[in-house]
Amino acid sequence: MAISNLRELYIYELQDLYSAESQIIDALPKMVEATDDAMLKRAFEKHLEVTKEQKKRLERIFSQLNENPGNGTCEGIRGIIKEGESFIKKEKSFFREDIDKDVLNAALIGSAQRVEHYEISAYGTARTYANRLGLPEQAALLQKTLEEEVEADRELTNIAETSINAEAA
Ligand SMILES: [Fe+2]
Repeated sequence: MAISNLRELYIYELQDLYSAESQIIDALPKMVEATDDAMLKRAFEKHLEVTKEQKKRLERIFSQLNENPGNGTCEGIRGIIKEGESFIKKEKSFFREDIDKDVLNAALIGSAQRVEHYEISAYGTARTYANRLGLPEQAALLQKTLEEEVEADRELTNIAETSINAEAA
């Protein structure tokens, strides 16, 4: 799609986010499986459910706009997930087989937080465009997702600081 105005750029950003959420929905179950930490497992599981709702929220916005989610790939999230997967895929892993579980958990949190920060930034951009375009209802939906991402990021920081990083050290 050739972009020539803010509405088209807004739709492009939404499609990018839609691809991001779809990729995250595929990746989170692998992260749940990779960690042995109960708190972290629960945080990833919870975020999987939240992410499915976020994807639906985007679908609502697309239907309001009479547009479709497209089939492009968010390369930014693809790269972050790929880096994260290198921690958990044994055949590609640059970690030793006998890696300390807490160090692996610390790496998983670092990777998940990169995803959150990407999304926080992208949702902030999309929300601002929605406001600019006079679409306050959509801006509010995007803001809601943004707040959920901030909350998920905070929870991960909390888990890292209270248990995992201490144990990893
Ligand atoms: Fe998300």
